[in-house]
Amino acid sequence: MAKVTVKHEITVAENLDELSRKAADEFVLVAEKAVRTKGVFTVALSGGSTPKGLYTMLSGVQYRNQVPWSKVCLFWGDERCVPHDHPDSNYRMIRETLIERVPVPKENVYRMPIGQANHSLDAMEYEQTIRAFFHLNAGERPRFDLILLGMGEDGHTASLFPFTAALEEAGHLAFANYVEKLGAYRLTLTVPVINHAANVLFLVSGESKASVLKEVLQGEYQPQRLPSQFIRPINGRLLFMVDRMAASKLTGFQAERNCAG
Ligand code: 6PG
Repeated sequence: MAKVTVKHEITVAENLDELSRKAADEFVLVAEKAVRTKGVFTVALSGGSTPKGLYTMLSGVQYRNQVPWSKVCLFWGDERCVPHDHPDSNYRMIRETLIERVPVPKENVYRMPIGQANHSLDAMEYEQTIRAFFHLNAGERPRFDLILLGMGEDGHTASLFPFTAALEEAGHLAFANYVEKLGAYRLTLTVPVINHAANVLFLVSGESKASVLKEVLQGEYQPQRLPSQFIRPINGRLLFMVDRMAASKLTGFQAERNCAG
C-alpha cells in the first residue's frame, strides 16, 4: 500500500511533564483564540492516562487563570461503557483531574451518556446533544475547536480500534463500537467528526508507543490496522505532541526542534 504523507506538525518534549506543559500552552492558545473570535471554546477531551498530566496542569496555579473557563464547553472523544463513577470511566478521570478543580460551569460539561442496555441509544443521544449544541442541519458535522487524542500501542485512537465497525461509520457523529479484544463496547466520536475539527492534538508518551508512532507517521498507510492514520483533518491543524521516548524510532528530524511533517 502506498505511503501517504499527511501534513502534520510534531513537537517533541523531553518527558511527559514537559509534554503536558506544551499541551497546556497549546490548549490555552486555542481556547483564547476561540473565545476571542467566537465567544466559546469547544473541546473534545481524550481519556486514558497520558492526558492526566495535562488536565492536572490546566487546573494548577500556573494555568487555571489563563483559561476562560466560563466560555469553555467540554465534550468527550470517547468513553468506556461503565458507570460514570467507575474507575475506568473517562468522565470520572476528567472530573477528578480537571472539572472539580476549575470553574467550568456544570451546564458546559457534555459527558457521554452511559446507562442504556443498548449502547447505540447512548451514542444516538450524544449525537443529538452535539447536533443541538452546534445547531447542525441534517448531514452537517460539528467543528470542534480542539479534539485531544491519545494513541494506543495498537494504533487506535479515541475508541477507533483496529478492524472495528466504527472505522467505517461516516453517517453518525458518535458510535457504539464493540471492541472484541476488550470484550466490551466503547462510545466514540467518528472519524469524520474528528477530521472536521479545527485543531486535532495527539498526545503520545513513552517508549511503549515508539513503534506504533513510527508506523503511524512513517509507515505504510494501513488505517484499518492503524486507525490513528484515519485522522487527517480536512481543514484543520494536526499536531502530534510526543515525548522523546515515544519519538525515539522516528527518523528524519532532530528531536530537539519542532517540525512539520
Ligand atoms: C481511552 C482513550 C484511548 C487512549 C489510548 C492511549 O479511552 O483510553 O480514549 O484512545 O487515548 O488508549 O491511552 P494511554 O494514554 O493510557 O496510553
